[in-house]
Amino acid sequence: MNRQLSLFSPAKINLFLRVVSKREDGYHNLSSVFQTLNLGDTLTFSLSREDQLSATSFLTTFPSTGELPLDSSNLISKAVALFKRNTGFTEGFNIHLEKRIPMQAGLGGGSSNAATALWACNELAQTQIPVKILQQWGAELGSDVPFFFSQGTAYCTSRGEKVHPLPALREQQIWVVKPPEGLSTPEVYQRLQVKTTAKKILERDLDNFLSGILPLFNDLEAPAFEAKPSLYDLKLQLLQGGFESVLMSGSGTAFFCLGEGKFPKELKGTIYSTKTVNRPLSNWYAV
Ligand code: C5P
Repeated sequence: MNRQLSLFSPAKINLFLRVVSKREDGYHNLSSVFQTLNLGDTLTFSLSREDQLSATSFLTTFPSTGELPLDSSNLISKAVALFKRNTGFTEGFNIHLEKRIPMQAGLGGGSSNAATALWACNELAQTQIPVKILQQWGAELGSDVPFFFSQGTAYCTSRGEKVHPLPALREQQIWVVKPPEGLSTPEVYQRLQVKTTAKKILERDLDNFLSGILPLFNDLEAPAFEAKPSLYDLKLQLLQGGFESVLMSGSGTAFFCLGEGKFPKELKGTIYSTKTVNRPLSNWYAV
């Protein structure tokens, strides 16, 4: 019988994000703690003669259904191609994506899908590639992909692909707000003015985090606010609602809010009630 495998593909947030320096290869060195959430997509896989990718979109804000790319530019297709190239596996994969993670949001949806696809291919093809190797392959697909092979809480450095696992946080509610406008990651990085950060400061950030003091900042907020000034207004609106902290995730445009607060009635965008989620050592994420 043709086995079907349905996997959860979680979104991530950056609990803090420091851009440490600009690199010669055009990327930036980062210092950031990433965390997976129970907001996510579902990917269903089965073996078939040819590779096929279809999708159902549950997205309510930009970009809407029609704009989900399902061709070879989709990171899922790229992950499948990479898996087949590296393993010599010749059968096809039939994949259906249920899209819930907003795009152009800084929530890592595409990267999470790519990691989930590598995990699923390895399961269905029974190739038993070690997770560490899948993680290395993931780095070729995008800087954020390797993180998803951690257990869901990790300190990430270099361009994001060096993953240092951290203990899971206490499960807590996190509100995620996605405004209608989106931003592309390269655009945000291009606007960034980088001042190289001393190692001592990076160590202090991580020490603070580990002792329970969240160093809540994101160096990508300033260039994102410059590109889309309405994002700054949204942050102020959310802070006025009483939340303890409001921070943009990754290169935006989604924000996450910690603590108790009220959302203004006139708020434009989609509100998601989420929780942190972590995966057990030998299984993929599940909710
Ligand atoms: O690695 P990924 O393909 O996700 O990166 C997309 C773009 O984001 C890069 O081409 C680069 O412009 C920018 N980026 C960066 N520094 C990083 C990660 C991404 O400048 N650490």
